[in-house]
Amino acid sequence: MTAQAPAGYTYGSTPPSPVTPDEFEKLKATVLLTADDEEALRMAGDVLEDQVEDVLDVWYGFVAAHPHLVAYFATPDGAVLQDYLARVRGRFGRWILDSCRRPYDGEWLSYAHEIGLRHTFDKKNRTDDAPSVPHISLRYMVGFIYPITATMRPFLAKKGHSDEDVERMHQAWFKTVTLQVALWLRPYSPEKW
Ligand code: HEM
Repeated sequence: MTAQAPAGYTYGSTPPSPVTPDEFEKLKATVLLTADDEEALRMAGDVLEDQVEDVLDVWYGFVAAHPHLVAYFATPDGAVLQDYLARVRGRFGRWILDSCRRPYDGEWLSYAHEIGLRHTFDKKNRTDDAPSVPHISLRYMVGFIYPITATMRPFLAKKGHSDEDVERMHQAWFKTVTLQVALWLRPYSPEKW
């Protein structure tokens, strides 16, 4: 994590997450995230390190191809905000490697909560002072799990690892994305979470 921090990236300086250690452990157990997965994620970090921009090209291409998704990076009347797209892209890239390499401790949990907030009325647009729509619909947060997972596999397979290791890395990636979206749902509905 020595590269310069992307604009608006505040890992390590966000308030503690309201999620308790016990809730966090039970959620990890629910997505079947084990120490073996955490090891597979470290391997994935090494595999993905020099492919982050390529992964982001695929994800941003996917968003750009769907007007109902790109609308979340636009003004309420539909003008796409290129600066906003670019700034979020920097943080998105950092998140890929954080998900693979950071210990899932209290700091990580705090930033996970912050990322959730940044998708909702609470904090969307604030980091970049973007004149965009104020909130991302909950259904798309869950729906996004599939493309964010499926599109990762070819990148994990690009560095000559065995099929078994690619599968391990891919399953671990699927688990962390599911875990994080589950955490991000807390800001959407603290009472129902
Ligand atoms: C921000 C990941 C769903 C649009 C971010 C960030 C990450 C991320 C890592 C940057 C967080 C930071 O500020 O450090 C994900 C993942 C998703 C998901 C993994 C689901 C699996 C969506 C969906 C949309 C979306 C469905 C709608 C197109 C945005 C926008 C921001 C953002 C507009 C900037 C929010 C702000 O104003 O700070 N996302 N996201 N995301 N994401 Fe998502």
